[in-house]
Amino acid sequence: MEQQEPQLILCEDGSHTIFLPALNETYHSTRGAIPESVHVYLNNGFLPVLKPGLLKVLEIGYGTGLNALLTAIEAQSRGQETEYHSLEPYPLSKEIWSALNYGQLLAEEPLWNQLNEAQWNEKQKLTALFTLLKDKVKLEDVLLPDAYYDVVYFDGFAPRKQAELWGVSNLKKLYQAMKPGARLVTYTAKAQLRRDLITVGFEAGLVKGPPGKKDMIVAVR
Ligand SMILES: C[S@@+](CC[C@H](N)C(=O)[O-])C[C@H]1O[C@@H](n2cnc3c(N)ncnc32)[C@H](O)[C@@H]1O
Repeated sequence: MEQQEPQLILCEDGSHTIFLPALNETYHSTRGAIPESVHVYLNNGFLPVLKPGLLKVLEIGYGTGLNALLTAIEAQSRGQETEYHSLEPYPLSKEIWSALNYGQLLAEEPLWNQLNEAQWNEKQKLTALFTLLKDKVKLEDVLLPDAYYDVVYFDGFAPRKQAELWGVSNLKKLYQAMKPGARLVTYTAKAQLRRDLITVGFEAGLVKGPPGKKDMIVAVR
């Protein structure tokens, strides 16, 4: 996948997302970026794995930083110490991320700016409870520790647009990097992905999807 010129668009709920014309793909559902991210990654990913001590999140596709912002807010309100590792080979320019309205809609502009201004490839403690590492790297190329993460947010472009990202070798890499019992969540309900997750060793099932989508996949190592 080559880098494309991103455009800002408004979703039906009033939150922004990004559209990539050359891929004909948006970063979120146009029904609403915030409700989709809350449903898929917070409600089905982060909240079910809350625990005493440090919780480790891996995100595939930092994109706009919306999932990171929502998770940092939730970590703060739940008192959950959280380490957030996000992979992104094609960071958005400041011109684009600073025009997005997530900080304003969630009344967290200072935190939003902090997340997006954080240096790439450097672990940084942003709040007493939230540490961020934004890695400018592809999932295919990153080296991940074994049995480390409690939850994986798999938020790449749709499998039909970026098949290689969802391939079995990447799924094996994620399985290996997750703790036994850890969860992988994604907005897609693609049957081939579910079969591949099962082949790799996950228990993978469907749960109710975000607004506008019937189902989504949750997989447990
Ligand atoms: C659906 S969008 C991300 C949504 C993001 N989580 C957000 O809340 O804005 C997919 C992201 O995956 C990134 N991406 C593309 N190829 C990738 C790869 N090989 N490894 C990791 N991320 C990739 C894209 O650049 C894009 O930012």
